[in-house]
Amino acid sequence: MELSIKGMTPLRGEIEISSSKNAILPILVAALLADESVTINKVPDISDVTIINQLINSLGVAARMEDERVVIEGQPNGHQPPYELVRQMRASFLVMGPLLARQGKVRITLPGGCAIGTRPVDLHLKGLRAMGARIDITSGDVIASAKKLIGNHIYLDFPSVGATENIMMAACLADGTTYIENAALEPEVVDLANFINHLGGNISGAGSNVIRIRGVRRLWGGEYTPIPDRIEAGTYMVAASASAGRVLIKNVVPEHIKAVTAKLKESGAEAEERGNQIEVSRKDEIRPLYIKTLPYPGFPTDMQAQYMAYLSCADGSSVITESVFENRFMHIQELMRMGARIRTEGRTAVIKGEKELTGARVKATDLRAGAALLIAGLNARGTTVISDSEHIDRGYEKIVEKLNALGAQITRQPESH
Ligand code: UD1
Repeated sequence: MELSIKGMTPLRGEIEISSSKNAILPILVAALLADESVTINKVPDISDVTIINQLINSLGVAARMEDERVVIEGQPNGHQPPYELVRQMRASFLVMGPLLARQGKVRITLPGGCAIGTRPVDLHLKGLRAMGARIDITSGDVIASAKKLIGNHIYLDFPSVGATENIMMAACLADGTTYIENAALEPEVVDLANFINHLGGNISGAGSNVIRIRGVRRLWGGEYTPIPDRIEAGTYMVAASASAGRVLIKNVVPEHIKAVTAKLKESGAEAEERGNQIEVSRKDEIRPLYIKTLPYPGFPTDMQAQYMAYLSCADGSSVITESVFENRFMHIQELMRMGARIRTEGRTAVIKGEKELTGARVKATDLRAGAALLIAGLNARGTTVISDSEHIDRGYEKIVEKLNALGAQITRQPESH
């Protein structure tokens, strides 16, 4: 599918943020650890959720979407998630921890390179090995086994979100206590720990850089509602300011998006926090920024592309350094087709602000790159057509409907080529 966007309409009104994609994916996977039925509330209708549910079903556990809930029932009886599902989404690799913990074995394809870099899994494997898993890599598959995982001290060379989550899930049914040092601090890691504790797990320190996981014999069932999506919120905040409109963003945790809000204010926007809502507006020119992506609580890499689109029309030159992923600048080429002036040197991009962008045919290379092009298209003169827009649907629920309700003019259409 492609999206056609008529540009230059200020966004005005209210928008409700969905639950966090990056919290829900590991939470759904962690339901594989439970002995009884698990219900997750307020699950967004996005394609990454559909894929993870298919993956869970492929392991002999029923995962059904009913209205806005996913109900997960049954015990895993498979240990080999299908290649076609795993290769579609890196988060699939998170089944490794729960399957090792419950089945004592797992065979899963290595996530290959993707549009934003090679994204290795060495830290996941290092942690699982430290807990006593035997791990071999054969023909692109990781084959792991462990009679019983044993708690240990695990130091992560980098605070990887996925490695922290995978190890945490493996450790919650292990013998003894596991300490993850230099753990990721992301709110989604905290939400996963809260969910596991809600089912009877014993995890403390999530949200700090040392997480302690005391192994328990079993996890029960339960019902859980995940946190709101901070990246979805950040994306609409930037879109609102880019269009010089005024939007009330509802269902956010302002604490989770401090870095995004701070940069938005620095650029000349107003962002007024009221409980779990933020109102964003802008009257003055967009001021140029210096941004460096970092692990939480630093500026999120998942907001880098959207800010680049925004700063393409700033009053001066901005500098963005991507320090989390090695190759996350695929959107630059596409933004330049719309008239943006950007040059790169390694992981740094210099964006020379232009008065305005011009609509063009562009391609969404990945989820956040797609969101960036949408922001650019909303503010470009003329019509922008984004092909491969399925990437955007992986992580943004009803994005066309939500933006059109704010006054945008976006239509979905079959790919024209
Ligand atoms: C998660 C998010 C993703 C976000 C990223 C960073 C989900 C489903 N996805 O991805 O949206 O952009 O966090 O905030 O939650 N690395 C290694 N070895 C490893 C693991 C990671 O070198 O074993 C490197 C990666 O290549 C990357 C960096 O660490 O350069 C960050 O990756 P990580 O934090 O693991 O991101 P993900 O969990 O894949």
